[in-house]
Amino acid sequence: MSESVVVEGPGRPFAAGIEVPGDKSLSHRAIILSAMATGVSVVRRPATGRDVAATVEIVKALGIEVDGSSFLSPGIDGWNSPAAALDCGNSGTTMRLLAGALSGSGVTASLVGDGFLMRRPMRRLVDPLQALGAKVGLSEEGTAPIDIQGAPQTTAANVEIPLASAQVRTAFSLAATRADGESTVTSPAGFRDHTERWLESMGLGKKESPTTFRIYPGDIPSYEYHIPGDPSSAAFLWAAAAIVPGAHVATPNVSLNPGRIGFLQVLEAMGATVSGEVTGAILGDPVGNVEVKGSPLHGTTVSGALAASALDELPLLAIVASYAEGITTVADAGELRAKESDRIATTVAMVNALGGGAQAREDGFEVLGLGWLDGGIVDADGDHRIAMAGAVAATAATGPVTISGAESVGVSWPRFFEALEALWSSQ
Ligand code: S3P
Repeated sequence: MSESVVVEGPGRPFAAGIEVPGDKSLSHRAIILSAMATGVSVVRRPATGRDVAATVEIVKALGIEVDGSSFLSPGIDGWNSPAAALDCGNSGTTMRLLAGALSGSGVTASLVGDGFLMRRPMRRLVDPLQALGAKVGLSEEGTAPIDIQGAPQTTAANVEIPLASAQVRTAFSLAATRADGESTVTSPAGFRDHTERWLESMGLGKKESPTTFRIYPGDIPSYEYHIPGDPSSAAFLWAAAAIVPGAHVATPNVSLNPGRIGFLQVLEAMGATVSGEVTGAILGDPVGNVEVKGSPLHGTTVSGALAASALDELPLLAIVASYAEGITTVADAGELRAKESDRIATTVAMVNALGGGAQAREDGFEVLGLGWLDGGIVDADGDHRIAMAGAVAATAATGPVTISGAESVGVSWPRFFEALEALWSSQ
């Protein structure tokens, strides 16, 4: 059922400190690693949205007992083959990471999802997993269902992946912890390397270069994970502050993995005041506080590894760019077309529906920043990040913004609209 929400910005600067929900990428990894480990693991403060809930339901179907934040597993060698297909909902991370973990288990299973996920490209997973000897079947179009006939021992392999995809690297690495020898994976820079850092901290891998990771086979240990806030959620609050001169937001305890903070570099390059401090780490992966202050902004160019490390935030960047003066160009971001929606098409449609000027490119988009947006109706097209970016546009728009398909925010941040209202009403 499609829900419409009308949002109207505060028309004045605001200042607040807001804690955002747990990081989605880290929550999926913590839950899957807890399921692979033998015994009790604990996942504190996981992400609250439907994507992570799908991962929890699937590990339960594999035989893991879940009680609040505690996961009691017989270990990957004790996983059950589920009777029914495993439903990943809208979550590509659930589907791809579990495809990797299942490849190194004795389980036979089929992974399916909602209408959006069933259209997303999965062929990219097959070559690296097959290199490890896994039996992975897809539809003729290269999409889910993904049928996996796992084997408790995989065959060590050295693979090159042409994409900067953290999901594909993680799928390979999880399956490679079950191999009969050391494996390596090499792929272009810019991806989030949470899995690599965590496996290295667990003694199960080593970063050989910025692009190559070596996986040592071995058992995943049980662990107590404290999940930091999600920078991809915090980004919506950072952007709202960035586009209002004099506004300010502080977000404590968020993941500061270098593959996640490209958007902060872009905001700074556009003229926002950005500060961050690392206060700790989870298994070698940095965590800390971020503050963003709004100032008059100007256009910029985002390409290469920076585009990869800001990829999930690029629809939001198109809104920020509309409030800047001059042209913003996003290139080397063709992967946007393979996300929850075709994010080049949905981003351009969103900006234009709000009275801005955006144009698609083959590998990204261009926004002509005039310094304002009018407001209007944004169709989320089932994509949580489009719904949230559209709402952020209302922060400084001259009229209200209606988000059609607003329920999609529940995929990553069910209480997003409340958090945005709390930010806007702060003084
Ligand atoms: C994710 C990796 C990214 C990102 C996605 C989550 C992950 O996708 O866009 O939202 O948790 O590994 P890629 O695998 O395409 O890099």
